[in-house]
Amino acid sequence: MSSFPAIRLRRTRATAWSRRLHAENVLTPADLIWPLFVTAGSGLEEPIASLPGVSRWSLDLLVDRAKEARDAGIPCLALFPNTEPDRRTEDGREALNPDNLMCRAIRALKDAVPEVGLLTDVALDPYTSHGHDGLVDEAGYVINDATAEILVGQALNQANAGADIIAPSDMMDGRVGQIRGALEDAGHHNVQIMSYAAKYASAFYGPFRDAVGSRGLLKGDKKTYQMDSANAEEALREVALDLAEGADTVMVKPGLPYLDIITRVKDRFEIPVFAYQVSGEYAMIEAAAAAGAGDRDALVLETLMAFKRAGCSGVLTYHALHAARLLGR
Ligand code: PBG
Repeated sequence: MSSFPAIRLRRTRATAWSRRLHAENVLTPADLIWPLFVTAGSGLEEPIASLPGVSRWSLDLLVDRAKEARDAGIPCLALFPNTEPDRRTEDGREALNPDNLMCRAIRALKDAVPEVGLLTDVALDPYTSHGHDGLVDEAGYVINDATAEILVGQALNQANAGADIIAPSDMMDGRVGQIRGALEDAGHHNVQIMSYAAKYASAFYGPFRDAVGSRGLLKGDKKTYQMDSANAEEALREVALDLAEGADTVMVKPGLPYLDIITRVKDRFEIPVFAYQVSGEYAMIEAAAAAGAGDRDALVLETLMAFKRAGCSGVLTYHALHAARLLGR
């Protein structure tokens, strides 16, 4: 009698067709949201040194990127403005200007590619002279309630310009409910809210701050409003509150270092969860690939699949266009 394992898990892995048949998760271009940086002017592509392969685009070229995204099957874009330096102030009032760079970008994209969803970031950091997401007092503390009031105005400004998903990334208490109320009052019943519910004070945001021009301006850190990386239960409280206040979907950010949070949120609330694979994560993958540590395409697809496995409905990633094209082949 030969001895044999009663169960051979390798059997279903033995051929490519069988691996495909048994895959528990799939990644498609429809899972991806592509963050894009916008700059004023025309005919401009400004590469971001700390984010190799990512540029800021003026509106005319931004429209071309949006068409590429649509053609690759990407359903939604996330927009971030590199506000002109002379328009940044202590109070970030440019966020309320109906003709600011963000609103001009929304209108240009809705005009050219109306079938692509637009997610817009609500926070004051691209508009303030100190780089914080809200108003600061004399001690440098970000003031919650006065900030939330401005954020409501910023959200309405974006919705009026045509934004589809309002994404508050500021971490002020209570702002989701206030924004939801203002959107309803203004008749924007179908404008969604995706809250950056569990957003951590992270060392992975550096290249993003270069891209929106806030890194050199930022005084201190964001630890009095963004979460401590030591905490997980607190993330569940943040999510519970944002859902109670009317968030349609929630986001966890950064991505890979917080996969445990994604899974806990998904298991507890059974709602659509998104992840933001942030700028520092992108830069890390690019650096690893450039150093020969792994195949770039394989690294990109494996990390994106990790989000699906963890329970995500979708992922914001700077690799979105590249990944969508790989997946579409
Ligand atoms: C702004 C905002 C940040 C990111 C998204 N929205 C930066 C920050 O909080 O300092 C980071 C995204 C990334 O690193 O890719 N509130």
